[in-house]
Amino acid sequence: MKNNKAIYPGTFDPITNGHIDIIERAASLFDQVIVAVAQNAAKNPVFELETRVELAQQALNHLKHVQVIGFSGLLIDFAVAHHANIIIRGLRAVSDFEYEFQLAGMNRKLNPQIESIFLTPSEHYTYLSSTLVREIAAFNGDVSPFAPSCVVEALRSLKS
Ligand code: COA
Repeated sequence: MKNNKAIYPGTFDPITNGHIDIIERAASLFDQVIVAVAQNAAKNPVFELETRVELAQQALNHLKHVQVIGFSGLLIDFAVAHHANIIIRGLRAVSDFEYEFQLAGMNRKLNPQIESIFLTPSEHYTYLSSTLVREIAAFNGDVSPFAPSCVVEALRSLKS
């Protein structure tokens, strides 16, 4: 899959080990990967866009050809602006499929040059979501098995 530039979009509120698992898989397949952190105001993110970008950058520091960039607006416009031709999405369970199928179909309608590719995370991350990680942290649960240390720290400082 040489000469392809892939984008992995999401809200990343915050980035978790499940996301990192997918990004490492994408990084082994593609020369360049952009982690595109969506403003996604409709989701009312707990962390500001700038913080979500910084946390992802720290968590992905070990992957040299992975870049983290924040964006607002249409994903497909962001992809064109960054000369990317692939959108990576993770499929954790069958329940993800319907939404992903709709998203991929609409993105293809908007720009048929950009292909969506789906990767599955390790099975021990299939139940993970950013909301669950935030909730466990809010009730003083241990989130260190699910999120990188910078995120564990950021979640802790949310409460102080
Ligand atoms: N590991 C752990 N968690 C994962 C995961 C993985 N591999 N993959 C997904 N998740 C979680 C996410 O953390 C998120 O959890 P949350 O709902 O608790 O926050 C949830 O699954 C859904 O994530 P995702 O499917 O990535 O959706 P999203 O809302 O984070 O991002 C965008 C969706 C940003 C890709 C989409 O809204 C978008 O493209 N926005 C731009 C505007 C646009 O172009 N709209 C038109 C689209 S046709």
